[in-house]
Amino acid sequence: MGLKKKIRLKTIPQHIAIILDGNGRWAKRRNLPRHMGHKQGAVNLQKITLEAHQLGVNYLSVYAFSTENWKRPKDEIDYLMKLPKVFEEEYKDAFKEYDIRVVFSGRRDRLSKENIDLINRVEEKTKDRQGLTLNVCIDYGSQYEITEAAKSLAKEVKDGALKIEDIDILKMQSHLYTKDLPDVDLLIRTSGEIRLSNFLLWQVAYAEFYFTKVHWPAFKARHLYKAIKHFQKRERKFGGLKG
Ligand code: IPE
Ligand code: IPE
Ligand code: MG
Repeated sequence: MGLKKKIRLKTIPQHIAIILDGNGRWAKRRNLPRHMGHKQGAVNLQKITLEAHQLGVNYLSVYAFSTENWKRPKDEIDYLMKLPKVFEEEYKDAFKEYDIRVVFSGRRDRLSKENIDLINRVEEKTKDRQGLTLNVCIDYGSQYEITEAAKSLAKEVKDGALKIEDIDILKMQSHLYTKDLPDVDLLIRTSGEIRLSNFLLWQVAYAEFYFTKVHWPAFKARHLYKAIKHFQKRERKFGGLKG
């Protein structure tokens, strides 16, 4: 039996998060400019999204641009910031056909008006779709997200709308960008780095981690199956004892 069939017989992670890393190294290895890696990375995102949907994954969060990625050269940032539009134009039909809902997480105050309009338009247009939810994290940083949540809770307390005693884990969660998403079950990072780089720190509290050396543009369906197979072999205990 093929790997795809085998993994479908067992529990499929409900929420997968992927740190899409290694676009630059993928391009370098092929003597291409870095932006070609980003271009191919976007093509691959569409493929893996549809694959995850077919497997029965309900939520896919992807790290596309971090709050720290603004440190990169301007021409690289300019290229990356054009990708949401290219992505929308190329894939809106496929996403419609597969009933994919798209949401975005991250700061909105540093993006161009074009990108903010695009985010609002895409979220609105896809909001009632029943297929996989693709959560695209752009200008996303977990430390910023958690700090903003703390600030907004503090403001509610100051305004008398919230009692300090009523702040609990659920309340905190309801102030994160990902308030409508379940916690991450499986976190994948491509390209060999064993770190989180400020991605979904709160949401991966009990996630299983899978690191692969494969660069993101080369990460194919079979690599996804392999990651899920590893997930299915792990024993999740959530602090309890063996089931
Ligand atoms: C990931 O690929 C994409 C972004 C961070 C925007 P990189 O651009 O980080 O690729 P490497 O790590 O330099 O190979
Ligand atoms: C993390 O990758 C951010 C994204 C994939 C968008 P980076 O390439 O920016 O992370 P570091 O710098 O290697 O930690
Ligand atoms: Mg990188």
